[in-house]
Amino acid sequence: MTESMPEDIQPADLQQEHQKFIQDVGGWLRTHCCGALTLDDVDQEVCLMGWVQYRRDHGGLIFVDLRDCFGLTQVVFSPDTASGAHNNAHILRSEYVLAVRGKVRPRPAGMVNPAMPTGKIEVVAIDWKLLNTSKPPPFSVEERSETGENLRLAWRYLDLRRPRMQANLRLRHLVAQTVRRFLNENAFVEVETPMLTKSTPEGARDFLVPSRLNFGQFYALPQSPQLFKQLLMIGGFDRYFQIVRCFRDEDLRADRQPEFTQIDIEMSFVNENAVMCMAEGLMARVFSDVQGISLKRPFPVLSWDESMNRYGVDKPDTRFGLELHDITHIVYASAFKLFAAAKLVKAMKVTGGDAFTRKEIDECTEFVKIYGAQGLAWIKIKSGEWQSPVAKFLSERERYSIAQVLDLQQGDIVFFQAGEPAVVNAALGNLRLRLGEHLHLVSENSFNFLWVTDFPLYEYDNAEKRYVARHHPFTAPAHGHLERMLSDPENARARAYDLVLNGNEIGGGSIRIHSADVQRRMFAALGFSPDSAEKRFGFLLRALELGAPPHGGIAFGLDRLVMLLAGASSIRDVIAFPKTQKAACLLTDAPSGVASGQLCELGLRLREPAAET
Ligand code: AMO
Ligand code: AMP
Repeated sequence: MTESMPEDIQPADLQQEHQKFIQDVGGWLRTHCCGALTLDDVDQEVCLMGWVQYRRDHGGLIFVDLRDCFGLTQVVFSPDTASGAHNNAHILRSEYVLAVRGKVRPRPAGMVNPAMPTGKIEVVAIDWKLLNTSKPPPFSVEERSETGENLRLAWRYLDLRRPRMQANLRLRHLVAQTVRRFLNENAFVEVETPMLTKSTPEGARDFLVPSRLNFGQFYALPQSPQLFKQLLMIGGFDRYFQIVRCFRDEDLRADRQPEFTQIDIEMSFVNENAVMCMAEGLMARVFSDVQGISLKRPFPVLSWDESMNRYGVDKPDTRFGLELHDITHIVYASAFKLFAAAKLVKAMKVTGGDAFTRKEIDECTEFVKIYGAQGLAWIKIKSGEWQSPVAKFLSERERYSIAQVLDLQQGDIVFFQAGEPAVVNAALGNLRLRLGEHLHLVSENSFNFLWVTDFPLYEYDNAEKRYVARHHPFTAPAHGHLERMLSDPENARARAYDLVLNGNEIGGGSIRIHSADVQRRMFAALGFSPDSAEKRFGFLLRALELGAPPHGGIAFGLDRLVMLLAGASSIRDVIAFPKTQKAACLLTDAPSGVASGQLCELGLRLREPAAET
């Protein structure tokens, strides 16, 4: 690696300070990073600074792998060196911080390590200085050692010394820089919006912050800057962006954190195509600048209906087939009562699936139960027969039609799911993802972008017994769907679009409501009385009455985007200090109790948690 030394590229006044640091360490000047030296440097006298990754004593010789964020260099302390550098080298331990002065020499034949950029040389120590010691670390920083995630998170700064975390966070930095550059070139203005704000519902719980100065009142941490970015459009900014922290108190998974980062964007005087085109331009720039990958544009677009029909989910992974087929019309009068009685029956064919063992099929059946399915019917096409517990219930005509629709061949297995559409889609859609992974159907290193559009405006919330906004309550209804907002909410569609990458929702946005009347209608459809709409969103309604331009936007999940670029399996691997699935920080021990005085000041008193009912 030919990285510049950090001190070579700093401004003049900092260089002066650096001279003082050099004096502090006894005049030692770092000449190279630990990843820089090659055979070209042989016989040069150099000075390296870094951490001891390994120390190995080989009889008289002591070897140390010295590490910094640029790489590793092997340093040899030899008793033959006149300077006496070897004398105390036995005290060196893992993670001690060292400055080493020495001479570069080729490694002896047989000792060359072609896997290391510095693997052809070593530095023979002439002198060294201990800059700091280290207690024995709780795990080895050396990447090959497998360490449980909780231990890594509890000692995150040690984990951050590892090349993988270094690379992930550098990648994240590059993505953020590229985004800023692109948006700046395209007339977007970066504006910061408040972190202490008013609670605005977007589907998750708010994190609340009690106000000391306003007794009994609370701020909420923003779930997103949605309303502020709309107010910025009303404030005449035309194009806004922000790389911004968002907070949602929701159940966590590998792709969700309670605080995460959005690339948040809003534009005035645009339709959905303009926002999508800009978003594609941004993704194309990120992929080309950061990974050297040229993306094919425009990205494919799938309506929500089609996505649900073909893949059972609204964020399909299109890197492999295994599409679902609706066969309700074939089996509506079947002798198999389960099929005949169902609102929806879908089938999914797996080529070569006749090799599935009974145990594997049982595992699939257990798996779909997570999604509320009662069972999983299946048929193997094997030795010219339909082998299955249910095949005998299907008529010749039904078999013929199913074979036609699915293009069945010898060696296939077909899985069936019958029942409520939401369960059928979730069960088969997720089984599809599981089999795609287990059968290695996913082509690695491919990036399949996809827009999903024409979402329903609402979804029914069984717990609250009312419609809630599917995206958020500021999303405009589709053209011609104004009446349906109240009269036929089930079928009202939204001017919303999600960006999906390899089965992950990496962005979502919409054209917004810019008329106060339509916004009032939306609140009414969500079951808010005019009074409660005024109380919660009066500030927005007034703003919409004062010359709000038509506007729309999108927000990308930066953590998810970087996770996919890094090939990581969890967003925790691309966040410096993430939280666990239980929303805890194992490093600082947050959240934690506070002194009663602090609570008192805020007018708060804790009570025993209510007993579980
Ligand atoms: P949305 O809620 O879809 O839209 O969020 C936008 C994107 O943010 C990412 N994301 C998350 N990433 C990590 N952890 C989480 N808990 C989490 N939640 C969301 C996803 C998602 O696509 N204000 C609207 C955007 C708009 O309409 O412009 C919004 O927040 O990648
Ligand atoms: P049963 O009649 O309940 O014994 O079910 C017959 C077969 O249908 C079994 O293989 C079940 O796993 C399967 N099955 C049960 N419920 C469903 C369903 N909702 N959709 C598809 N198959 C099902």
